[in-house]
Amino acid sequence: MDKIKQVELYAKEMLVTEKAAHDFAHSDRVMKIAVLIGEKLDADLEIIKIAALTHDIIDKKVAGNVLDASNALRHKLESLGYLTLQIDHVFDIIENMSYSSGKIPESLEGKIVQDADRLEAVGAISIARAFAYGGKMDRMIYQEDNANCSIAHFYDKLLKLKDMMNTDIAKSIAERRHKVMEEYLDNFYKEWNLEDIV
Ligand code: NI
Repeated sequence: MDKIKQVELYAKEMLVTEKAAHDFAHSDRVMKIAVLIGEKLDADLEIIKIAALTHDIIDKKVAGNVLDASNALRHKLESLGYLTLQIDHVFDIIENMSYSSGKIPESLEGKIVQDADRLEAVGAISIARAFAYGGKMDRMIYQEDNANCSIAHFYDKLLKLKDMMNTDIAKSIAERRHKVMEEYLDNFYKEWNLEDIV
């Protein structure tokens, strides 16, 4: 079995209990989007694949203990024969790509994986993920003046992402997906206020 396949199996195993927004299907899509962008920009696709597949394993939203999860991942990558240089590169990406960190990874590969992860938070799938995660966190769908409801999350984060993309390719995909969210919110408020009932 090739090494990436084994990284994939490891990620799947680590994310098996994740059902809401950080399930393996999310990581898999991040990988595929990042590879498509990476091919166009001549990036190191092996690094992109590892980072995309493992990025949520060490996220505090997913890992019980971030340090333990990071150590276990490092050991796993070492045991598969990846070089220290490659492993350090992967960690530089996955430790610096989350929205909450406010950081941008230094390498091209990091910028691409960050864009791919952020594209997952813009558009139709993003809407599903936002409500699934909101439900998991026991949040209301919508309540005026409730900064903690799922709809508020659109304004806190999701609608800001299209202006935060690192690569031009991601920017243009984000523009399209952003419109889907804007239209969705328009329709949401119309239905909420019964304005669509004639
Ligand atoms: Ni993610």
